[in-house]
Amino acid sequence: MFDQLSLNILDIGMNSLAAGATVVRITVIEDVPHDQLLIRIRDNGRGMDEKTLRDVLAKNASTKAGRKKPIGLGLALLRQTSEMCDGAFRIQSAPGKGTGVTASMRLSHVDRPPLGDLNATIFALCAVNQDADVQLHYRSGDQKFHFSSQEGKHNEPRRTQETQGKGAAAGCAA
Ligand SMILES: Nc1ncnc2c1ncn2[C@@H]1O[C@H](COP(=O)(O)OP(=O)(O)OP(=O)(O)O)[C@@H](O)[C@H]1O
Ligand SMILES: [Mg+2]
Repeated sequence: MFDQLSLNILDIGMNSLAAGATVVRITVIEDVPHDQLLIRIRDNGRGMDEKTLRDVLAKNASTKAGRKKPIGLGLALLRQTSEMCDGAFRIQSAPGKGTGVTASMRLSHVDRPPLGDLNATIFALCAVNQDADVQLHYRSGDQKFHFSSQEGKHNEPRRTQETQGKGAAAGCAA
């Protein structure tokens, strides 16, 4: 188990980028009145066919190359955390269309890890693929926050020699 949910989110977001997604939309909703936390990661990557999805859910199957055993941990760990914290875990996927992973949990559950550093997770995903649109939609009560790594990017001044090479920080400017 990770000690921060942002690390689970990073893992699932990495799956999306590995699946060729050009848009990764991360939604986090803290619903205090209903004592619920909802985490959803949706992408427009290559998706999974029925058999792959069944194997992933039933056997924690992995298609990552170079593994001694074809077992994946990213989805299994988020599922375990979600179910342990009285929540539900769901994956929807369609080949060629994309994948959505949804995990809920009881906010006040004693074992629920803190969200942790979501900024660092978004930053890391941006750094992995600067051309993908990595989005964060966060809501907690009346508080709302939206981020898109591609928003305004094409209206920005051209990158100069000075800014080139600053890599992720330049590419991920909000
Ligand atoms: N967003 C996605 N799009 C397409 N396939 C996916 C996606 N997420 C997961 N998968 C499939 O499910 C498998 C299991 O994912 P999981 O994150 O549990 O493990 P992994 O990525 O293979 O390895 P690990 O996360 O432990 O490094 C992946 O190998 C991949 O085949
Ligand atoms: Mg993974």
